[in-house]
Amino acid sequence: MIRKAVIPAAGYGTRNLPVTKSVPKEMFPISGKPALHYIVEEAAGAGIREILIIVSRGKNAIIDYFDKSVELEHHLRKQGKPHLMNHFPFPDMHIQYVRQPEALGLGGAVRLAEPFVGNEPFALLLPDDLLVDGVETLNRMIRVYEVYKRPVIGLRRLEDKSQLRNYGVVQGEWIAPSLVQIAELIEKPVDKPPSDLAVLGRYILPPEIFSYIKSTKPGNGGEVQLTDALRAWLQTAAIYGMEIKEQCYDISKTNEYIELQWLMYQKQLDTK
Ligand code: G1P
Repeated sequence: MIRKAVIPAAGYGTRNLPVTKSVPKEMFPISGKPALHYIVEEAAGAGIREILIIVSRGKNAIIDYFDKSVELEHHLRKQGKPHLMNHFPFPDMHIQYVRQPEALGLGGAVRLAEPFVGNEPFALLLPDDLLVDGVETLNRMIRVYEVYKRPVIGLRRLEDKSQLRNYGVVQGEWIAPSLVQIAELIEKPVDKPPSDLAVLGRYILPPEIFSYIKSTKPGNGGEVQLTDALRAWLQTAAIYGMEIKEQCYDISKTNEYIELQWLMYQKQLDTK
């Protein structure tokens, strides 16, 4: 039922400067593969074949990574190492790109996906957040969407309350284990968080989200926040949050990035 995924990768990566001045955060390596590889893998595992990546200036490394490299393939064949081509990703995925000319917030980026999405629900996957069992999580979110046909937002419980300031935060009523009907939704920075449930970069959204984004006024720094569009929608319709208990790492945080690197490296050793 969910055939399409949108991956915003147009941000400046200001939390990770200076490296992000020339290396997109989405290309940060994790056990030899860029972070974005795992996100596309997650979508593929959930049966999604149509992907739109929103890029911007300086992000061509992303486009090159998912492209066929005829010279490299030729070179590897000549060297007698064609097996190394097995690492080249996703021949059966259809990946397209749209370029965002100016960083106008997550809402501004998602808005560019409207022609791609058309009139169907889609998954929105933020490449900052890497889930170790991402496929399982995404499938669970899709199942929740299939029941309610309403937006479903991934949530992460943050034990360290000081971290809540860095995320959107929700508050609501538990209607099933791991499932919250959201009553309040606030974009970062949140001074007095109403709960310890942070918005994680996984969403299943119906296409009506675009009209809410269009009528959302820009907030801080002229950025249009997706959270604000969802908050406006919440006034007239239900929105659900699914607590994600699987291991999740925010790669824009150095400590979590290093932890994830180590974990994936060990996983790789285990499979050898
Ligand atoms: C976005 C959302 C924020 C959410 C976060 C999760 O922020 O606006 O509500 O908590 O993703 O990664 P960004 O990281 O794009 O600034």
